[in-house]
Amino acid sequence: MKIFTTKAAVSQYLSPIKASGKTVGFVPTMGALHQGHLSLIELAQQHNDVIICSVFVNPSQFNDPKDLEKYPRTIEADIKLLEQVNCDILFNPGVNEMYDDNEQWHLNIGETEHLLEGEFRPGHYQGVTQVVYKLFNIVKPDAAYFGQKDYQQFLIISKMVDMLNMPVKMVMCPIKRETDGLAMSSRNIHLSVDDRLHALVLSKTLDFIKDKFDSHDISALKEEAAQLINAEPGVELDYFEIADGETLHTATPDSEKIVALVAAKVGKTRLIDNVMLKS
Ligand code: PAJ
Repeated sequence: MKIFTTKAAVSQYLSPIKASGKTVGFVPTMGALHQGHLSLIELAQQHNDVIICSVFVNPSQFNDPKDLEKYPRTIEADIKLLEQVNCDILFNPGVNEMYDDNEQWHLNIGETEHLLEGEFRPGHYQGVTQVVYKLFNIVKPDAAYFGQKDYQQFLIISKMVDMLNMPVKMVMCPIKRETDGLAMSSRNIHLSVDDRLHALVLSKTLDFIKDKFDSHDISALKEEAAQLINAEPGVELDYFEIADGETLHTATPDSEKIVALVAAKVGKTRLIDNVMLKS
């Protein structure tokens, strides 16, 4: 695997590859890689000639400096995993390579970035679009692969791509779960043995709601889900929403796509998960 740490080197390497007509699939990550990330690479490999993964813990998307400091950084292990799945290129820049001092701009994608995660993590999606915009400009991929795990992130980046006419195909990949249902996440390594057990309430509640789902009974279902999660020791619910898959407002019987989304603190670790109820 080729490893690059500068924008210039990665662009220079990719340019003849693209000129030769090969397609480039891109998987942006913040590292601490797990099977969820690797499943994105595997899907990208099925549809592209060359795969590039980026590992960059993007400071501008962390609204809490402690969260940024605590974010796991495991680059040696990440490189081994990427080599095992035959990723072609790793782009692993430092903060100074990605940002000038005091960079102040951000994109305004509209209302969606202020709902749900946006409400609990103000500015988070401005940081996400800022870095993904930069990464897309550096890599200029044909297609980019993101997980459904971060459903709202996918929606917002897709809006950015549409609004700015960026020539990138956005591909959403299924959520990878542990055998007991917990959605894989780089943050799971912070869970204590007890937290790990309590965290299961999130995927269990999503499954329960999926089984009972009826688009005419949304507020009752939301209430029931919130009660189940709040009853779990050590778990503090931020939100449980049954949302329209496009607007992220509470779904209505007319919604064409419906998704149940949850965020909660389990011990000190904040986790998110979701399930499609109608697609
Ligand atoms: P990160 O949290 O590292 O996630 C990178 C990609 O992996 C995202 O598209 C995410 O949805 C996907 N992913 C994470 N867990 C997954 C799982 N269990 N199953 C399937 N896919 C999963 O998301 C980010 O980084 C950043 O915000 C980024 C887009 C890189 C911008 O900094």
